[in-house]
Amino acid sequence: MLKFNVLTLFPEMFNGFKEESIIKRAIDDKKIKIDITNLRDYSSLKHNQVDDTPYGGGSGMVLMCDPVFKAVDDLKKKNTKIIMMTPQGETFNQKKAEELSKEKEILIICGHYEGFDERIRSIVDEEISIGDYVLTGGELPSMVLMDSVSRLVDGVIDEGSRTNDSFSEDLLDYPTFTKPREYRGMKVPEVLLSGDHKKIDKWRKEEAIKKTREKRPDLIKPVFRKEIGDYAIYDYQGVSKAKDIKLDGAYEFNPKRRELFTVNKVLLLDPKFIKKIAKKSLEKKLKALFDQIDIVLNDESDDEAGSFVLGEIDRIQSLIISYYSKYLEDEYLALLLFKLDALKSEVAMKEMKKIDVVNYDKNRRRR
Ligand code: ADE
Repeated sequence: MLKFNVLTLFPEMFNGFKEESIIKRAIDDKKIKIDITNLRDYSSLKHNQVDDTPYGGGSGMVLMCDPVFKAVDDLKKKNTKIIMMTPQGETFNQKKAEELSKEKEILIICGHYEGFDERIRSIVDEEISIGDYVLTGGELPSMVLMDSVSRLVDGVIDEGSRTNDSFSEDLLDYPTFTKPREYRGMKVPEVLLSGDHKKIDKWRKEEAIKKTREKRPDLIKPVFRKEIGDYAIYDYQGVSKAKDIKLDGAYEFNPKRRELFTVNKVLLLDPKFIKKIAKKSLEKKLKALFDQIDIVLNDESDDEAGSFVLGEIDRIQSLIISYYSKYLEDEYLALLLFKLDALKSEVAMKEMKKIDVVNYDKNRRRR
C-alpha cells in the first residue's frame, strides 16, 4: 500500500478526488491511502495564521516556516518521501510517476498564495512542478501527481492497460477504436479486424511511433540505446549527432525504413553481430551480381550488359577490399575475390567472342 499525506490549507478540495472512480476504489481496496492534513492545525499563532508579508517588501503573503516544519516533524516517518508542489520544481513526467509509485509513504506540501519561505526547501526531498504555468496553489498539482502515481501502484488498474500507456516507452499511445466498424464514413483500420495479433502488434507499434513523431517529436531524442548485445547509436529527427561519432571497428549502415525513424546512421559495435550483418549485406550484393552474370553467360543479354557486368564485378571487388575487409575474415574474402576474378574472365571471354562474331560478320559483308 502506498500512503499519501497532503499538507494543505484547503482540505475540502480533495473530497471529490477521493470519492470518485478509480481512486475511490483503490482506497477501498487498501491499495492506497490518502490523508489530508490542514496546515492550520499546526499554527501556534492567533487565528491559526500560517502566512505573513515578505521581508524586503512586495506583494502577497508568504507561507511561514513554523507550521510546515512542525507538521513535517509530526507526520514524517523513517521512509517518508517529502515532496513540495511548486512551479519551480522539476517537471513531472511518467518516469517520475513510476519512480514514486514504488515509495511507501509520500508527504506532499501544497504551497499557496505568492510563495513560501525559502527555508522550507531545506526539509523537502523533491520539488515538483506539473508544467510551465502557474496555478493558484499546489492542491490541483498534488492531485495530478497522486492520480498518476496511484494508477501505477500494483493492483489499482489492469496491468495490460498500463504497459500500453503513452510515454511508457517514450512514445505516445497507439490509436484505439471500438464499435461500430464504420462511423460517419470513418472506418476502423482493417488490420485491427484481422485477428492476426502479430500483425496488430506491429501496426500498433508503428502507429505509436508515427504519432509521436507527428505530435511530440521532442520525446524522440538522439539516444544511445542498448541493442542486441551491444550499442547502436540512433540519430533521430535528422539531428546528425551520430555522424560526428567515430568508433574504431564500428560497422556503419543507413537504415532503410525512414518512414518510422529518421535514423541517418547506425553503428554496431559487437564484433559477432557486425560479422553477421556485414556478411548478409555483402551476400545480398553478390546475389544481385551473380544473377546479372548468369544472364550474360547464358546469352540472354543485350550488347551493353557484358561491359556493365564487368564494371559491376570491379566495383564489388573494390568494395570488398576497401570496406568489407574491415569486418570480414581475409580467407573468406580472398576466396571471393578469386572467384570474382574467374567470373570476370569468363564474362570477358564471352565479350571477346561477341566482338569476334561481329567482326566476322562485318568482314563477310565487306567481301
Ligand atoms: N503551484 C502552482 N503552480 C504549480 C505548478 N505548475 N506545479 C506545481 N505546483 C504549482
